Amino acid sequence: MTDQITLYYRNALADVVGTQQGLATDELDALAPAIQQITADMDQQRAKGQLPYRDLPYQQEMAQQVHNLAAKLKGRFDNLLVLGIGGSALGNIALQTALNDPLYNLTPHRTSPRLFVMDNVDPVQFRSLLHFLQGQWDRTLVNVISKSGQTAETASQFLIIKDLVTQQLGPERLKDHLIATTDPASGTLRRIADDLNLTTLQVPPGVGGRFSVLSHVGLFSAALCGIDIDQLLAGARDMDQRLKNPNLRQNPAALYAAIQFAFYKKHKNLSVMMPYSYQLKDLCDWYRQLWAESLGKQTDLDGNTVNTGPTPIKALGATDQHSQVQLYREGPHDKIFTFLQVDQFQHDVPLPSHVDAPELTYLADHSLAHLLNSEKRATEYALLQSQRPCLTVSFPQVSPYTVGQFIYLFETATSYMGALLNINTYDQPAVELGKIATFALMNHPDHQKLLHNIQQSAQPDPNFLI
Ligand code: PA5
Repeated sequence: MTDQITLYYRNALADVVGTQQGLATDELDALAPAIQQITADMDQQRAKGQLPYRDLPYQQEMAQQVHNLAAKLKGRFDNLLVLGIGGSALGNIALQTALNDPLYNLTPHRTSPRLFVMDNVDPVQFRSLLHFLQGQWDRTLVNVISKSGQTAETASQFLIIKDLVTQQLGPERLKDHLIATTDPASGTLRRIADDLNLTTLQVPPGVGGRFSVLSHVGLFSAALCGIDIDQLLAGARDMDQRLKNPNLRQNPAALYAAIQFAFYKKHKNLSVMMPYSYQLKDLCDWYRQLWAESLGKQTDLDGNTVNTGPTPIKALGATDQHSQVQLYREGPHDKIFTFLQVDQFQHDVPLPSHVDAPELTYLADHSLAHLLNSEKRATEYALLQSQRPCLTVSFPQVSPYTVGQFIYLFETATSYMGALLNINTYDQPAVELGKIATFALMNHPDHQKLLHNIQQSAQPDPNFLI
């Protein structure tokens, strides 16, 4: 296998950052038996069909359905509008940023549609998009993604768009312009899609939104926008082979989780991911949701109240060197850093050979890739001087194959981390109350009592308003 992403971890160890702030090798090795057990448990869960996200890269029929639909729709649309939120949106955004041109939507020689992923209900933003799409509905395809169909943000966007398309194109053409990605059997969106006779794609049963990017949820927009989804899945499969290794030091997902867990136990509660690549920045948003929603839990699997979970933070190199690094070096010793580095950028921009200003001649004849990677090394060096533990995930290049590896690596690392924390990695009970309170505040008839409670408890007190 060539083009493998790698994890470098020496800079997190006590040898480099000192015994106070670093991890002793025996502290790490002490986790090896637990890792071996978790690896065996996951194998068993997989064999019983209890960990379906791990098998998504092998679902050839699923990939074929995406190819077939993308081929059928190719050339018919100038715009693809994705409606979704959380796990139904972040993977779509991450793949697009990583694997298409940064100015893809503005590129005149683009052969596939522009992509808009609306993962919020900000009225100014949404109206602006509607304004842009005015007069273009006959060249616009809408993919509404929601496992439940009840998520207020996605449902309201969908209602607005359905009305607009009906008005503009007539009800009989709705099914040519709307597709739904949802539960294969049940739920509100499934029922609506069946009633409207829409083409549907599936959110696979047993796969939560944040683990669904390698299913129809993330693959369709990628395929329609020209991304090589076969290479994405091949990368995930090849990473899976590496992650079958029960040996802590040879399994990058297990090792990443074990290091994060050991530091979490040493009160480093904040985990900063810092990509030195614009292409990788939205993968960090995707990782933030994956890590936060999976690992932030009140109770453990034995029913104890633990209120556990590291806080994932995203910082972009080099931009955030000029915003965050002062804190990262001199603030509290509560963070572990994961850099994402690209060895070979897809394109480079040379700096001029001749530079007039004597203070700037050191830049002559270099390139932006060299500068950006030097900044990564410099920031890491500076953090290490301040005894801050650092990990680096290196991409030989950013390609569908390496991005597929990264996604699968971090999904599996999340499972390891959840098992080490002894929590349920796959639920998100705490998100529910906010969702239901929104229903109540929007006058949902089933939640009138909650509405009353909210009105009683959350009434603003003018004494505290200045
Ligand atoms: O990861 C998750 O499960 C969540 O982020 C969901 O994807 C998000 O809440 C949207 O839910 P739904 O797909 O039901 O609209």
